[in-house]
Amino acid sequence: MSTFKAPKGTYDLLPPDSAVYLAVREAISAPLRRAGYGYAETPGFENVELFSRGVGESTDIVTKEMYTLTTKGGDELALRPEGTASVLRAALEANLHKAGNLPVKLWYSGSYYRYERPQAGRYRHFSQVGAEAIGAEDPALDAELIILAVDAYRSLGLRNFRLLLNSLGDQECRPVYRAALQEFLRGLDLDEDTRRRIEINPLRVLDDKREAVQKQLTGAPMMRDHLCASCTAYHEQVRELLTAAGVVFEDDTKLVRGLDYYTRTTFEFVHDGLGSQSAVGGGGRYDGLSEMIGGPSLPSVGWALGVDRTVLALRAEGVELALPAATQVYAVPLGEEARRVLFGVVTELRRAGVAADFSYGGRGLKGAMKSANRSRARIALVAGERDLAEGVIQLKDLGSGEQRAVPAGEITAAVRAALG
Ligand code: HAM
Repeated sequence: MSTFKAPKGTYDLLPPDSAVYLAVREAISAPLRRAGYGYAETPGFENVELFSRGVGESTDIVTKEMYTLTTKGGDELALRPEGTASVLRAALEANLHKAGNLPVKLWYSGSYYRYERPQAGRYRHFSQVGAEAIGAEDPALDAELIILAVDAYRSLGLRNFRLLLNSLGDQECRPVYRAALQEFLRGLDLDEDTRRRIEINPLRVLDDKREAVQKQLTGAPMMRDHLCASCTAYHEQVRELLTAAGVVFEDDTKLVRGLDYYTRTTFEFVHDGLGSQSAVGGGGRYDGLSEMIGGPSLPSVGWALGVDRTVLALRAEGVELALPAATQVYAVPLGEEARRVLFGVVTELRRAGVAADFSYGGRGLKGAMKSANRSRARIALVAGERDLAEGVIQLKDLGSGEQRAVPAGEITAAVRAALG
């Protein structure tokens, strides 16, 4: 062991588990790619103000959880706590919205950083795959994204996830609701911090997990009852499209999410096998975010699914992904000449698309065969001096144990035939 350990709240991804993470990222992004989303990659850090303005000055993410730093040049930066503000910033900076093809549909995958109290499923460095559809107000777009997330989870074999759905209204009806909620909350018995929150961001009080607070919220005005006609109609269309696509959802009028940019459709995917950190993904519409970061009006919608928690959800359900074997063929040379010949065969197999590995370090037959079995390869290729003198390589099926001599020149074809 070295003197150093991974920082608190982080962990390393190493084989064999790392293959599951790759497969999850692939499974989440595949439906997006099929639906016209193009890949976007943005820096791991941004100007801190992008997040304070975008995610919201009063959110936990901005007030408590951002990793901020001042560069030697005096720039105030933050490690990205989320992807939406960055991706929108990038799209605006590149004028993608002016190319005349709205919505701009982008997907991304990467590391995010939040200085949270670490616990099972909650890390300071975590991984998301996300999608943003920028510049269109259309309930079908909200539905599309939700369906793509559901399809991604299903393709992984997950079953015990639930979709919570809500509408947070727009700039017309939200302020009216906000005032009504504030009036209700001001009459409750709450601590100083929560009282302050009532004035800055009253909707987040609804999300307070403490029982003493939740008890007092019975009878609180709900956004659902304050939605204006256009928000109601919009939400109804989203619900209908989801139902038509066979997507089951639960209306959750208390769902507010931890980021301030949301308007109208908001949703969260929760998994019941994960304990308190049950949100495996979430998102919604953010019609005002572009203007908040200095751009034009660009109504947009998106989501991000947590890769770490999706892996935990798979474990909780006991789902084993069918991962492609890392190694199909393992070559075991016995002697110098065999090393040269089999190294050439391995190179040729790889070029032909076969996953092949080689026993390095000049090990004897026993040790090399152990490695071959551990690699879970289906075939071992063994050659010693006598084989080479006869112009053959031994092809051993590691499942059945059967072995036969194949002429060296036919080995690639024989391996491919044996692998089916
Ligand atoms: P979020 O709900 O903050 O939304 O994060 C999305 C997902 O990232 C969560 O559901 C969770 O699975 C995962 N996640 C968040 N924090 C942690 C953590 N500390 N440890 C492990 N996993 C975590 C967003 O980030 C929005 N940008 C989503 C969005 C995209 N909205 C619109 N477009």
